[in-house]
Amino acid sequence: METKNLFLYVLALISIFLPLAQSVHFKFPAVFNFGDSNSDTGNLVGAGIESIRPPYGEIHFQIPSGRYCDGRLIIDFLMDAMELPFLNAYLDSVGVPNFRKGCNFAAAGSTILPATATSVSPFSFGVQVNQFLRFKARVLELVAKGKRFDRYVPAEDYFQKGLYMFDIGQNDLAGAFYSKTLDQIVASIPNILVEFETGIKKLYDQGGRNFWIHNTGPLGCLTQNVAKFGTDPSKLDELGCVSGHNQAAKLLNLQLHALTKKLQGQYADSNITYVDIYTIKSNLIANYSRYGFEQPIMACCGYGGPPLNYDSRISCGQTKVLNGTSVTAKACSDSTEYVNWDGIHYSEAANQYISSQILTGKFSDPPFSDRMPFLLNLKF
Ligand SMILES: *[C@@H]1O[C@H](CO)[C@@H](O)[C@H](O)[C@H]1NC(C)=O
Ligand SMILES: *[C@@H]1O[C@H](CO)[C@@H](O)[C@H](O)[C@H]1NC(C)=O
Ligand SMILES: *[C@@H]1O[C@H](CO)[C@@H](O)[C@H](O)[C@H]1NC(C)=O
Repeated sequence: METKNLFLYVLALISIFLPLAQSVHFKFPAVFNFGDSNSDTGNLVGAGIESIRPPYGEIHFQIPSGRYCDGRLIIDFLMDAMELPFLNAYLDSVGVPNFRKGCNFAAAGSTILPATATSVSPFSFGVQVNQFLRFKARVLELVAKGKRFDRYVPAEDYFQKGLYMFDIGQNDLAGAFYSKTLDQIVASIPNILVEFETGIKKLYDQGGRNFWIHNTGPLGCLTQNVAKFGTDPSKLDELGCVSGHNQAAKLLNLQLHALTKKLQGQYADSNITYVDIYTIKSNLIANYSRYGFEQPIMACCGYGGPPLNYDSRISCGQTKVLNGTSVTAKACSDSTEYVNWDGIHYSEAANQYISSQILTGKFSDPPFSDRMPFLLNLKF
């Protein structure tokens, strides 16, 4: 009884302060997600392009779940917060994929710009949007034939009231650094965003009205980039991240933010939310110990030991012969102490922290105040 009263008291307090911020209705009949490995729940693996082996998925799923993580991704925590089930991957054909609450088109390695012969993933943003168009057409066909798609939601509402989420762009920049100068990469950003805008327009024309756009994180802080491009200490910033990569990410984000502002003006009948993932992630890396982490940059799962525990020749979970000796890239004993999981992707613990920050609404434009973000399980 005591606890319950306290709870009601807190709720009453909160509701006094709630009207200060725009309140977001965090209830959607469906979610359609587009992106790269940051939100891939099984597409690249489902396509047979790559396989993921243990220790991927060692937390929460206990098996490699098609995710490039030891456990859950940001999108998983956001789905949880929306009281929706985890998103099934469009290309996941085994078992009974359930698309009643949406579909995930994100695939690891994907770029906004069209894929080239050397791309990891052929599923660039334009392809993912085309996959959505086919998905939508098929759903409407089935519904026209009298098949029930969702017991409660008419098919049109599913697409019109659904939430369209985006987390893509990181690979356009990170990949370019292998062959281009910073100036060339910066000069290419407007082209990248034209392609992004084209995809958003298609989805709008198809009836999408709720858009949720994540910006790009500080890719200069990813272990892989520090290992490859940070060997000269003058290339690193005060956090130990590659400055050029972070500069490019910031410039992309500046222009992406401007684009969302433009779209907010153009599509007055829509909700378009820009989420500043960059600030959340760089705060985590700068102030990691405050959030319960011990390693901001060193990979948990990798080979080579400190300071980075990353070797580009051998990826997490692989066993290979290096210099005549068989070695395995293994996981650290406690991945919750690490921000970085495998040198390229964040750990579940980091994803949980990042999600809790997203749900405060403070990093969004327009900002929002979620129902009760303090009820999320925070890591402390
Ligand atoms: C936009 O969000 C508001 C609540 O934040 C909601 O009432 C409205 O239906 C949404 N607009 C569209 C077009 O879905
Ligand atoms: C780290 O925390 C301090 C104190 O709250 C804050 O001023 C600073 O901006 C944070 N660092 C980053 C990179 O966000
Ligand atoms: C392999 O040998 C090279 C050259 O001798 C050395 O630089 C490198 O550290 C060795 N790598 C491993 C994994 O032992």
